[in-house]
Amino acid sequence: MSSEQKSSKLWGGRFGEATAASVEAFSASIDYDSRLYRYDIAGSRAHATMLAANGLLSRDELKAIIDGLTQIEQEIDRGQFEFRQDLEDIHMNIEKALADRIGPAGAKLHSARSRNDQIALDLKLYLRDQCDSLVQLLDGVRRGFTQLARAYLGDLMPGYTHMQRAQPVLISHHLLAYFEMFSRDRERLLDCRKRINICPLGAAALAGTGLPIDREQVAELLGFDGVTANSMDTSGDRDFAIEFVSCCAQVQLHLSRLAEELVLWAGSEFGFVTIADRFCTGSSIMPQKKNPDIAELVRGKSGRVVGSLVTLMTLMKGLPLTYNRDLQEDKEPVFDAVDTVSASLAIVAELLDNLQFNTDRMRSATQRGFMTATDLADYLVLKDVPFREAHGIVGRIVGYCIERGCELGELKLAEMRKFSPAIAKDVYEVLSVDGSVESRISIGGTSLQRVEEALHAAENQMGIAR
Ligand code: ARG
Repeated sequence: MSSEQKSSKLWGGRFGEATAASVEAFSASIDYDSRLYRYDIAGSRAHATMLAANGLLSRDELKAIIDGLTQIEQEIDRGQFEFRQDLEDIHMNIEKALADRIGPAGAKLHSARSRNDQIALDLKLYLRDQCDSLVQLLDGVRRGFTQLARAYLGDLMPGYTHMQRAQPVLISHHLLAYFEMFSRDRERLLDCRKRINICPLGAAALAGTGLPIDREQVAELLGFDGVTANSMDTSGDRDFAIEFVSCCAQVQLHLSRLAEELVLWAGSEFGFVTIADRFCTGSSIMPQKKNPDIAELVRGKSGRVVGSLVTLMTLMKGLPLTYNRDLQEDKEPVFDAVDTVSASLAIVAELLDNLQFNTDRMRSATQRGFMTATDLADYLVLKDVPFREAHGIVGRIVGYCIERGCELGELKLAEMRKFSPAIAKDVYEVLSVDGSVESRISIGGTSLQRVEEALHAAENQMGIAR
């Protein structure tokens, strides 16, 4: 076999023939991992700096490497870099381009490093940035909720359990529930970031290296909080990616619940919300239609993000230590989760600016459905009737109202007293929806005072001065 026919790969030394084209096509990841180039180059810069500080590269070699990497980065930025599938992945595309450009010094860059710890590094650097970016996007949505809660402060709506009218609440209370959900998502991402921010470089292939490296220096140069403790764990660990995508899935589930409510509320059965025309789409056949497609798509996209999480977990299940090529399959679900959640958060922040609550309709929905029945039971409790007994009495009064087609507040005192002599004329205060809302002063409750406090705290968090 002539030497031309032998493998031309960076790893080709022991191979007697060129890789089959089908194998190259099947195994290459460059089509998607090229998006990691900035992180790959940042990692190489830090690695080279450390190698030079520890006598593994000369000053001139380091300079050539740094300059070469900068040129390559600029070429990629400008879209002038030619990515090659035969070079498999982002690591080898950049390393080969560097070697072609600067010669022997480029071939020294990979000392004390493996693509196994290199890809873990790239992914961690990328995900660290994505945590920060998602926190920003979440803040946009959180700010939107505080603004809506401020705008509708004092307005009433029915609160639901089992999708049945349950108890009256303030619209702002409902909106601030979402503020809480997205605040937890934010905390989760920041917590996940802590575990991402531990440097894997230096684990090398799986066992560490005998070359005199300084892992802590690399970690410091790249802004990590520390270095990983076990090289074998490091080269096969993707917990951090699973945890990150799990945070994404949780964000998307919260967005999806919001989207579901908006879809329902925008329909004529509810008529609670009007979404601006510019945020809706029409039907190609039914001229009258105005559809809440953005909310529907956000709801629909939750399937993708949960799917990415399941993909990653299934990928890891049963993988022996340490690195296995299976791990290359982690990239696409991670990227898709990032893209989907980022786009959804951005559009939902805009959507919140394009909502108008139909407060009259929401308030009048609180007038039907015996929404103050619990208040009546609590009233009896305060008159020393045991709660279970009070529950039974009110249940019978509700049954009586249903037969007559009236609401609790429409009953005469004498009618009510037939069910319990403990009922007196002060009962009418607790039967009003406003009285009901005002009475709910427990911490986290829906009284105006509590909601104002919660809104104030939320605005403080968002740096909104009042
Ligand atoms: N493209 C690979 C990945 O994404 C990089 C690591 C490859 N390592 C190896 N020994 N083949 O996982």
